[in-house]
Amino acid sequence: MVQATYHFPRGFLWGTATAAHQVEGNNTNNQWWKWEQDGHTQGTSGLACDWWGGRWREDFDRAAEGGQNAHRLSVEWSRIQPTPDTWDEDALERYRTMLRGLRERGMTPLVTLHHYTDPLWLVEMGAHSTGSGQGWEIEAVIPLFEKFARKTVEALKEYCTLWCTFNEPNGYALNGYVGGGLSGDFPPGKNDLKLAMQVQSNMIRAHAAAYRAIHQIQPEARVGIALHYRAFTPHYGWSPLDRFLTKNASMILNNIFPMAFSNGVIRSLLGTVQIPEAKGTQDYFGLNYYTRNRVTFDLRRPETMFTGAFFADDSDFSDKKFLINEPDGMFEGLKWIVRRFPNLPILVTENGFADAEDRVRPRYIAQHIHQMWRAVNFNWPVKGYFHWTLVDNFEWEQGWTLRFGLWALDEHTQKRTKRRSADLYAEICKENGLSSEMVEKYCPEVFDKLFPV
Ligand code: FCB
Repeated sequence: MVQATYHFPRGFLWGTATAAHQVEGNNTNNQWWKWEQDGHTQGTSGLACDWWGGRWREDFDRAAEGGQNAHRLSVEWSRIQPTPDTWDEDALERYRTMLRGLRERGMTPLVTLHHYTDPLWLVEMGAHSTGSGQGWEIEAVIPLFEKFARKTVEALKEYCTLWCTFNEPNGYALNGYVGGGLSGDFPPGKNDLKLAMQVQSNMIRAHAAAYRAIHQIQPEARVGIALHYRAFTPHYGWSPLDRFLTKNASMILNNIFPMAFSNGVIRSLLGTVQIPEAKGTQDYFGLNYYTRNRVTFDLRRPETMFTGAFFADDSDFSDKKFLINEPDGMFEGLKWIVRRFPNLPILVTENGFADAEDRVRPRYIAQHIHQMWRAVNFNWPVKGYFHWTLVDNFEWEQGWTLRFGLWALDEHTQKRTKRRSADLYAEICKENGLSSEMVEKYCPEVFDKLFPV
């Protein structure tokens, strides 16, 4: 039997990713909390993983003991700025303590400023005025985000130089503004592609403003976003229509942000928008990769320009058929980035699988890390990997029905239970690589794929 190890470069970052609303608990002052109370989600976030109550300490211990040398977390805007005119210094102090906690455990922090949640006051802004829109639909949000970014970075700069302004701004806009979007119903639950484009262009402009502000405060900062990249294939390769829709889906979901960062322009079927200030405002490319969809013409989906996206029946499915295990898509995504931004460092800011029983996750992890290694082996500048996620947490509209953690969580008792994937991932982090022994031990079913003779 083959014996080998796929090693990664020295200094590679290995971590997990989390988001404030999904782990902190009691984030009562943002639009997601309200969305949950209004019955749009499967259960409510409640105490979540109780990080705000201090359980981040034990979870950071778990991460550090598992050999992780980095962690990606987000701060909650509605805690830091509870009203338009107030800053909560205690909340900022609490985040400083958490980041110090990471440093003390030898982990490099990557801080996301906006991960899906907005303060209630922000989303209500403009709602009562005359038809100009609300929240991220209106330009007034841009300087507010910049101010929040300044305040937060000023407070946390002692512990962090790696910043992510927005997590999946494309996911935020499409899930919130295009009915039956990628994964489901996000607030504000509107159905208007044009508005989705407007939200995205406001987010791009807010990113550009924050990018400059952060560099003013901290010249050595590295700033980017985490893009939700989805691999797509035409269902019928022979069909020009399916091929066109596939290209268009990728254009709308994947291309808008990278295009703005490379040319300062966004182009889509809905028109062209110039955002010159966005050009060159990315110090690394943050890639969130989960899965691949097949795309076909679907008359029942006018809201998505008749694009139907689905998974084939014989796929390697996650729980609730939410995702499928498609490791090649990871390589494809990395290649897609390198072609556009040949020298830009890349961080895999998220990658993971919903699998309460941990049946598929070990092979999902091994196969995706193998694809990432292929990219590294071409000298593509992949610098780190953040698995989604450390401990099961509140999964947005799916609530507690999808379990992405290396550790299982009983949200009623707060008890954590280790899954086998946590051990596999710990071995990978400690080895700085994936070995044939690990694959043999945790997912022998893919041994021949990963170590062919
Ligand atoms: C990503 C989100 C993250 C989590 C995972 C499963 O799209 O960024 O918060 O919900 O999906």
